[in-house]
Amino acid sequence: MSFPEEVIRKLQTAERIVVLTGAGISAESGVPTFRDAQSGLWANYDPEELATPQAFRRNPRMVWEWYMMRREIIKKVKPNPGHFALAGIEKRVTRFLLVTQNIDNLHRLAGSENVIEIHGNIQRTKCFDEDVVIDTWDTTDDVPPRCPRCGGMLRPDVVWFGEMLPSGAFEKSAEAVRNCDVFFSIGTSSLVYPAAALPYEALNNRILSIEINAEATPLTVHVDHHFRGPAGEILPQLVAAAWRA
Ligand code: OAD
Repeated sequence: MSFPEEVIRKLQTAERIVVLTGAGISAESGVPTFRDAQSGLWANYDPEELATPQAFRRNPRMVWEWYMMRREIIKKVKPNPGHFALAGIEKRVTRFLLVTQNIDNLHRLAGSENVIEIHGNIQRTKCFDEDVVIDTWDTTDDVPPRCPRCGGMLRPDVVWFGEMLPSGAFEKSAEAVRNCDVFFSIGTSSLVYPAAALPYEALNNRILSIEINAEATPLTVHVDHHFRGPAGEILPQLVAAAWRA
């Protein structure tokens, strides 16, 4: 793929880059996306049945077991060239922030350091009642297991529909977007707010905005440049083109 000269020159001189990622960046690692018709997790399950506090109250065992199944899938997968390319960009610019909606930990495994996980991390567990992270608990027959502090139910430390993002996560991300030189939106359908509002912080501040996605999204018509295709192929090519020397 060839890239516009404006993009290459801007990347070469950029001091601050912010990247927003979604499930598409992990698709080539074998993690199902949420909304892709064929393989998306949501194609087989109704999200309202699984990813809301109400669903958990209604059927805690089913929700806990569904997340345990996803946790096992995610434990076995590895970062792909797209994740590694982003970790490489972080090493080349003065300030870099990766805001991810993914809960799979693959960015950190690839070596990214400055990461905000705005939808949490599936490998962490917290108490449903107290909202504090719990690292260890007694193994009993209880499903879900019980909080060792209060006896409440344990749940994955991820953001469910209708819940707030982790404290300060959106504000910190938006501030970084407003003050960057280049903004990327990669592998996200740009449908789920408030994360989907972040690109508009860049657009409203006339920051060079680039989308990388396998398909068009509601954001595509607004960005300065969009590159259509798999992030795991496009990102390494972009890094090579911009930082060849
Ligand atoms: P989606 O499943 O909504 O969108 C995935 C996007 O990735 C789509 O736009 C695809 O076209 C694109 N895509 C697929 N494969 C790709 C590839 N190899 N390279 C580049 N792009 C590719 O996932 P998200 O946008 O992440 O939230 O979904 C946002 C949030 O909705 C999730 O974090 C989750 C979900 O409900 C919560 O659970 C709170």
